[in-house]
Amino acid sequence: MLDIVVCVSGGGTNLQAIIDKIASGEISNTRIVGVISNNYGVKAIERAQNAGIEAKVVSPKDFASRDEFNQALLDTVKAWNPGLVVLAGFLVNIPVAFVKEYKNKIINIHPSLIPSFCGVGYYGLKVHEGVLGRGVKVTGATAHFVDDGTDTGPIILQKAVCVEQGDTPKLLQQRVMEQAEWEILPKAIDLFANGKISVVDGKAVIS
Ligand code: GAR
Repeated sequence: MLDIVVCVSGGGTNLQAIIDKIASGEISNTRIVGVISNNYGVKAIERAQNAGIEAKVVSPKDFASRDEFNQALLDTVKAWNPGLVVLAGFLVNIPVAFVKEYKNKIINIHPSLIPSFCGVGYYGLKVHEGVLGRGVKVTGATAHFVDDGTDTGPIILQKAVCVEQGDTPKLLQQRVMEQAEWEILPKAIDLFANGKISVVDGKAVIS
């Protein structure tokens, strides 16, 4: 059984997809042992509590420095002793010590087809604003391992989604979530939980 910690910042729809797919058996051999939010009062915490999952807030506002926040974040995760950490809409830069501790054991969902519209400054709605601003016709989502860069780790799964005439950033965000994120993030967790992902020469290989 794989114990996972899920880190969230806001709405928590990706967290909900994970909760639902564990319940339905689409994600097997997995349980969520804890949820961490960097923000108070967000819907994601409510979703965790409704599912009977322990949820903690580790907010940078409660610490005198970023280093102290980073340490508290890592300590909180470690206390649950997870085999995998899932960043499900966690809009915080993961500190180097955290990445080192959980090398190839942190999976992030990013709302574009990496390497497009990713890296510093591309998160949440900003990604979809970038997509619409450039006028590309196909976007999507990427589930990837986290390394010490921003959105540069080994890519596990990707799924394409069409941009449509009249899209707004919010409409596009919703379609990318529904058609891609809620599908490939749970799938990546299931593959990991069943020992089906290895990293060879910096690339994720699925068996
Ligand atoms: C999702 O679209 C996720 O891909 C994105 O934030 C949103 C969170 O939604 N993450 C990033 O942009 C990470 N760079 P949710 O809280 O409803 O899951």
